[in-house]
Amino acid sequence: MTPRSQKAAATEPVIRDIVPSEAVHFSGLTAPALRTVLGEAALPADCWRIGAFLEGEPAGLLLSAPGFETMQDLTTLMVAPGFRRRGIGRALLNTLHQRAQAAGKRGLVARWSNRLPRAQEFQALLASAGWSAPVETRRRMTWRVGDWRKGFPRRDQILARLRAHGLNDRSLAELGPEGLAAFRKENAALIAAGRAPEWASAEGWIEGADSDLSLVLHDRDGALCGWIAVYYQPQWQRWFVPQGWVVREKVPQGWLVGGIASLIARLEEKAGPEGQIIAQPPAGIAGGMEAMLHRHFGPYAVAMDFLNESEFLFRRDGG
Ligand SMILES: CC(C)(COP(=O)(O)OP(=O)(O)OC[C@H]1O[C@@H](n2cnc3c(N)ncnc32)[C@H](O)[C@@H]1OP(=O)(O)O)[C@@H](O)C(=O)NCCC(=O)NCCS
Repeated sequence: MTPRSQKAAATEPVIRDIVPSEAVHFSGLTAPALRTVLGEAALPADCWRIGAFLEGEPAGLLLSAPGFETMQDLTTLMVAPGFRRRGIGRALLNTLHQRAQAAGKRGLVARWSNRLPRAQEFQALLASAGWSAPVETRRRMTWRVGDWRKGFPRRDQILARLRAHGLNDRSLAELGPEGLAAFRKENAALIAAGRAPEWASAEGWIEGADSDLSLVLHDRDGALCGWIAVYYQPQWQRWFVPQGWVVREKVPQGWLVGGIASLIARLEEKAGPEGQIIAQPPAGIAGGMEAMLHRHFGPYAVAMDFLNESEFLFRRDGG
């Protein structure tokens, strides 16, 4: 399976991209949901599957995919138990640093579950490579699209009532280029005026978002009241809802719920009931999306945990 030349250096790991035919040797080193990536014939741009071989044996795996705002995500880093503490994890991580920097990325980010059994050693490796101290940032919830309906049996009535009271929910496609430009301008103006928090900025979220599913909410006078971003992640074959925001005064009126109701209806149509949807809203924001999603749909989630996050930013001078 492995060329003889790779056996030359007995103690130095060989680090290289792995090919689909090698998938079987690495599948135990990543989560079941990510295993399909190993066998894909071709990966989207800047998606990397990097293997470590020691004396010809598959010893470690690193998976990485593009993140937001030119960050690069470290998705999996795992060294097989018999090969640990021999510098393989560090060699894989170094390769990621070099590649991401050569690709012009701003930095690297890793998010991992608070349930990760061996988080301490992973954190120790990141810390030894200069990554930031981990912070708990988001609650992660995964559903089957069809199950969202169970959390929202009166969805269509609620949406109709909110629309009758002025909710104007439109996708990016329905807004069109001019509407989108006006939305971005107003979003920035609300933040500048202190009427919306910094995290309500759609910049960095809206680029590359799915234009049929990502929504912008206005009132009947045309004032911006919120947005929800949705992405299709082809590498994981799932729909991702990273963030949503509704202006404070509309939250008690149920407009965030209305936005989600609209999103579910559109998702069912586009993704079908068997599609997978994952949300990672920021944790602990009063009246925010995390609390709302958890209350309505938490009982129907197929998986739920909190995410710790750490990052490494490249210096502008190349360091
Ligand atoms: C984390 C992991 C990838 C490290 O791989 P590794 O090849 O054993 O790491 P290295 O030998 O390159 O170690 C590099 C540095 O990381 C730190 N480190 C690694 N393992 C450690 C441990 N068990 N305890 C403390 N520090 C550790 C040390 O600083 C080490 O440097 P040192 O050996 O000079 O002290 C490996 O332990 C692993 O696969 N763990 C389980 C998988 C996992 O949880 N992955 C994260 C989610 S994707």
